[in-house]
Amino acid sequence: MQKLNKKKVPIFPLLVFLLILFIAFSTLHSGSTIHQIHENPNHIHQQEDSSTTYVKPNFSNHLKKPQEVLDRYSRCNSTIGYSGRKIARRGGSKRSGRQRVSGERCDVFSGKWVFDNASYPLYNELDCPYMSDQLACHKHGRDDLGYQHWRWQPHDCNLKRWNVKEMWEKLRGKRLMFVGDSLNRGQWISMVCLLQSEIPSDKRSMSPNAHLTIFRAEEYNATVEFLWAPLLVESNSDDPVNHRLDERIIRPDSVLKHASLWEHADILIFNTYLWWRQGPVKLLWTDEQNGACEELDGREAMELAMEAWADWVSSEVDPLTKRVFFVTMSPTHLWSREWNPESEGNCYGEKDPIDFEGYWGSGSDVPTMSTVEKILSSLTSKVSVLNVTQLSEYRKDGHPSIFRKFWEPLPPEQLSNPSSYSDCIHWCLPGVPDAWNELLFHFL
Ligand SMILES: *[C@@H]1O[C@H](CO)[C@@H](O)[C@H](O)[C@H]1NC(C)=O
Ligand SMILES: *[C@@H]1O[C@H](CO)[C@@H](O)[C@H](O)[C@H]1NC(C)=O
Ligand SMILES: *[C@@H]1O[C@H](CO)[C@@H](O)[C@H](O)[C@H]1NC(C)=O
Ligand SMILES: *[C@@H]1O[C@H](CO)[C@@H](O)[C@H](O)[C@H]1NC(C)=O
Ligand SMILES: *[C@@H]1O[C@H](CO)[C@@H](O)[C@H](O)[C@H]1NC(C)=O
Repeated sequence: MQKLNKKKVPIFPLLVFLLILFIAFSTLHSGSTIHQIHENPNHIHQQEDSSTTYVKPNFSNHLKKPQEVLDRYSRCNSTIGYSGRKIARRGGSKRSGRQRVSGERCDVFSGKWVFDNASYPLYNELDCPYMSDQLACHKHGRDDLGYQHWRWQPHDCNLKRWNVKEMWEKLRGKRLMFVGDSLNRGQWISMVCLLQSEIPSDKRSMSPNAHLTIFRAEEYNATVEFLWAPLLVESNSDDPVNHRLDERIIRPDSVLKHASLWEHADILIFNTYLWWRQGPVKLLWTDEQNGACEELDGREAMELAMEAWADWVSSEVDPLTKRVFFVTMSPTHLWSREWNPESEGNCYGEKDPIDFEGYWGSGSDVPTMSTVEKILSSLTSKVSVLNVTQLSEYRKDGHPSIFRKFWEPLPPEQLSNPSSYSDCIHWCLPGVPDAWNELLFHFL
């Protein structure tokens, strides 16, 4: 793809749109307060060899002064520049012999999409009672269904063929948990839809939509769960429905609030990305007594949060009993001129994948990817990477665009200009996230 002269993109309306999509996501049910776990003020110590302050997470649950839990009403009393503090990994991580699973010869993330209407989709949209109205594109009027018929074909080998019975056997007696944002939620719904048909309707259940939402299959004593934690660490956006819009506040040294909910899962699938792309982030360290925040740009704040997560992984995960996956950034298709020079639109009206090998849109931030790669490379014995970015880049046809439920009524000037309200971020189901789950199945 040739380099194009990028006109300045009006970033603000886009961000507002992103935010609307995110709030719009779920049905209203935030229910009970699960937010009872507080953090200790953490220890700080100076590294001898630099002026950087490192913060050690403190995993003890006994509190001296309970820390206020962040919610959408949280405010910073004041904001100062970033102090340069970083997250220190605790030493003595339990090393284990298990080698990295993705270290096999064939790179299954390098390949192409092959039209295959004989075997795909793997399930029907209408047959899945747990389908989300945000992702059910056919139900919401999309009648070009080509997007459901593509199979991911690695260049140098074949993916293990999806087999629902085999997947259930792998899950027997286990908890599979997806942790992250609405993209990860889409992958979770895809997994539930891929799996649910095997279970008689009186032997399965779905809990109400909440911070942690649980699909259960009785006869396998297994669950497939989704935990809303878009920034991985504790934040003011941890309510799956009522997020704070105008300001992101995180506790960069605290994964504890969420980790207490995910720590007993057997298979964990994490993601995080888009929520860091909406401007500066306020950091409220857990030892801060006066509500003073530090401000940092999104990419660096994401690095801090991933370091806190990596600290949890390296000290708490035994790869012999727990599998951990990290899903890389999900691409967006917001500017059609990136694949079709001179055009003015976005993913609206796109019916076919991009066939230019190596296509990479501007929404997938390369420096962020390098940061993620650097952090994951320190965890290779414990975390497998599901590198879905490149393969999803090709799928400009896979987004709902206008074919989903919108939670707010749309004004006429938007309705007359479909691309102005198209969702080019999430993915229709059946569709691209099914392939992510086939990759997960391949590695399990
Ligand atoms: C963690 O916090 C508890 C309670 O404040 C304290 O007793 C303990 O020493 C702390 N542990 C570390 C490793 O800092
Ligand atoms: C699959 O696609 C081909 C080519 O578009 C078409 O001729 C055929 O009828 C389709 N088969 C099914 C089962 O939809
Ligand atoms: C069901 O699975 C849980 C772990 O998810 C386990 O603790 C429990 O013992 C299992 N129950 C049965 C009846 O196998
Ligand atoms: C912000 O300042 C007010 C008034 O001084 C105080 O009551 C409140 O606890 C502070 N907020 C935080 C998060 O410390
Ligand atoms: C994912 O794959 C892309 C190439 O497709 C590569 O540039 C990137 O570094 C990979 N990311 C990780 C975390 O391995």
